[in-house]
Amino acid sequence: MKDFLSVADMQTEEMIQLLKTAKRLRDTDVSFHRQIFVANLFFEPSTRTKMSFLVAQRKLGLEPLEFHAETSSIKKGESLYDTARTFEAIGANVLVIRHQKNDWVEEVEGKLSIPIINAGAGTKEHPTQSLLDAYTIYEEFGTFNNINVVIAGDIKHSRVAHSNAEMLTRLGANVYVSGAKSMQDSNLPYPYLPIDQAIEICDVFMLLRIQFERHETNITEAKDYLSHYGLTVEREMNMKDNAIIMHPGPVNRGVEIDSMLVECERSRIFNQMENGVYVRMAILQQLLLKWGIVHENEVNECSALSK
Ligand code: CP
Repeated sequence: MKDFLSVADMQTEEMIQLLKTAKRLRDTDVSFHRQIFVANLFFEPSTRTKMSFLVAQRKLGLEPLEFHAETSSIKKGESLYDTARTFEAIGANVLVIRHQKNDWVEEVEGKLSIPIINAGAGTKEHPTQSLLDAYTIYEEFGTFNNINVVIAGDIKHSRVAHSNAEMLTRLGANVYVSGAKSMQDSNLPYPYLPIDQAIEICDVFMLLRIQFERHETNITEAKDYLSHYGLTVEREMNMKDNAIIMHPGPVNRGVEIDSMLVECERSRIFNQMENGVYVRMAILQQLLLKWGIVHENEVNECSALSK
């Protein structure tokens, strides 16, 4: 894996290796003491992904380069590829890209001589989110085997659903989907469960927000969504004792989840965000090593210094 672009490109062993590296980085500081630039090219809004990448970069001693599409030469018609090439030319050592197009990866993959990380591609992929969600589940249960994960909500428009279902299945979990039928994706080969059945069998109830901005028409099922398809306080009482609630955020409180449950004892929603920092540190470190931008002895040196 030379870039970090797609769950499909990853070996299962690589996923596990990254989870272990994230755990190590949580417990031990590693900070490279020389100038390495990371350009954060976010063409779509983001709070968690962008900010946790910035924190991850600063914790590693890397230098983030900010980019704001609204005030960039994108406004003059410059393409994603030319923007990426420009950052490479002016000295970026790594690119982190989020773009609303499903297939933006094809515009840049294999065309640059620096690593690229996918921070979200349209409705198709969000592989760094998948890895942090896998980390959160492993931290909770210590295994993926026989863990029932229900992904519930706007599956059709969710890049998280697509990437997570694939990664968690590869790691050994049983993945199911739930929610309004009009928001399901018939191309995904995961069993559908009505909400009340899903609640009873799940170990992880992973909610997704309705992505109103990606719907072309008004969604009739959005009315009364919480009572028909969402996680209400009454439904939460029917979950297994040790089952957890996850959500990649941002949350539409009162739409897919009762606001009271966002910070309840079962909720791991804010743990997911925290874990995102360590997982993104692990991805950055692994790519810097793979591309020879840093060397193994520098990682070991930094770890030793922090002890
Ligand atoms: N989960 C996630 O991708 O959140 P942001 O859109 O805020 O980055």
